[in-house]
Amino acid sequence: MTGIRELLLSRIRDVADYPEPGVMFKDITPLLADPAAFAALSDALADIARASGATKVVGLEARGFILGAPVAVRAGLGFIPVRKAGKLPGATLSQAYDLEYGSAEIEVHAEDLTAADRVLVIDDVLATGGTAEASVRLIRRAGAEVAGLAVLMELGFLGGRARLEPALAGAPLEALLTV
Ligand code: PRP
Ligand code: MG
Repeated sequence: MTGIRELLLSRIRDVADYPEPGVMFKDITPLLADPAAFAALSDALADIARASGATKVVGLEARGFILGAPVAVRAGLGFIPVRKAGKLPGATLSQAYDLEYGSAEIEVHAEDLTAADRVLVIDDVLATGGTAEASVRLIRRAGAEVAGLAVLMELGFLGGRARLEPALAGAPLEALLTV
């Protein structure tokens, strides 16, 4: 596993003071542009999806779509988009969550998840955990079980893992990289 971690880490670019002063942005576009690194990432996340017993992969808009879709295809599972509010045309369930300034809302098509589903949530980064926590609540409200959360990168210093623990209720949180 050391090899893949080094490969992934080497393709993530640190951008200082973006999107605002004091923030070190983790830019995954070099990783996406490298077919070997993107394939290795997709394979590693697909292994997690298979091991979790998931029946569906949920990707969180927007970067969770890019990472989650190839994982769903590789693992032979359906892909369900959790979108920012107002983008899905059918009947939705919505979940609001707090941001540093203000709040945000995510949605899923209510018909996309049932009590028969076990869902693996995929996103690029776990920061404060607010987005992931909202997605877990949304999945449970849709009646499905949460098989786990898998991210490329966990920003350990922001405490997202601890925040998520109650919502995950024992479901695993897997981060390929912790920075
Ligand atoms: C970013 C990132 C995660 C989320 C992590 O998404 O892709 O989804 O923030 O932050 P949190 O753990 O503090 O909630 P964002 O909505 O900023 O951008 P995106 O649409 O490019 O994914
Ligand atoms: Mg995001």
